[in-house]
Amino acid sequence: MDHSTTMSDGDFAKLRALAYDQTGITIGSTRKSMMVSRLRPRMRALGLPDYRSYITRITQDPGERKEFTDRVTTNETYFYRTPRVWSYFNEVLVPAFIEGSPGRAMRVWSAASSTGEEAYTAGVFLEDHRIGTTTFDYTILGTDISSRVVTTATEGLYKGRPVARFKAQHAELFTRHMVGSDEEGWSVSKKIKARTRFQEHNLLKPLANTAQFDAIFLRNVLIYFTSEDQEKILRHARSLLHPNGILFIGESESLKHIDTDFEQVEPIIYRAGQRTGPSGA
Ligand SMILES: C[S@@+](CC[C@H](N)C(=O)[O-])C[C@H]1O[C@@H](n2cnc3c(N)ncnc32)[C@H](O)[C@@H]1O
Repeated sequence: MDHSTTMSDGDFAKLRALAYDQTGITIGSTRKSMMVSRLRPRMRALGLPDYRSYITRITQDPGERKEFTDRVTTNETYFYRTPRVWSYFNEVLVPAFIEGSPGRAMRVWSAASSTGEEAYTAGVFLEDHRIGTTTFDYTILGTDISSRVVTTATEGLYKGRPVARFKAQHAELFTRHMVGSDEEGWSVSKKIKARTRFQEHNLLKPLANTAQFDAIFLRNVLIYFTSEDQEKILRHARSLLHPNGILFIGESESLKHIDTDFEQVEPIIYRAGQRTGPSGA
């Protein structure tokens, strides 16, 4: 057997603990082969003989810890994910904001933005409203713990699967606000880009120096955390949500078993309100 590429149960336990310390993500005890496929190429590229040396390297080198974070996070995302969310955003939330908060710029937070598709989808819908209502404006913040995806999001060039569905299902909207081609890749227009920025942020820490948001997208990330950490993240999101704001979570996520101050509007769509969790009604 090639021992240099064998991840012992002890190595796996240490790597899971490191992933938790760095990101709060809990990696299931059955995910060893996923961990091997994500980390072995890096261990080899560094010329390290075994996982024990790799673990030592991560603990001693902050640059390598970032690289490790990039590798243990799952960054799957695409434009126009979960169309129901976007119908609500475009047809209910934004019009209500325009009517209810004239003269204030709408603030949107894509709180685990990955490579940026979610933030820019919001941008396309918001920009379309801005064209129709000249007094309306908006800003979008995308944050993620992985520096690699934040760089890709800031660049904002997309080809193939990330844009295909949006392009097919909203052809007119797409051509109005996206520039590029299938060969070279697509980006949002300069107007949307100018109103969108990305930064690194760990959801388990407070997001400093920010006003409240009118929409928070916290989608397809809660699943990676313990319920205790989910509550912590949701408490913080609640404090950053404007009283009339809306929180969107992922399709496979629910706040049913969590103690939070959100009230369900529709499945996966919440507003600030009464407790929804086990101690609530
Ligand atoms: C599956 S993607 C979700 C992207 C997008 N929200 C969507 O629904 O399409 C999950 C993202 O959460 C990020 N993430 C994981 N742990 C995080 C943490 N503690 N703080 C901030 N982002 C985190 C990952 O880096 C990854 O990019």
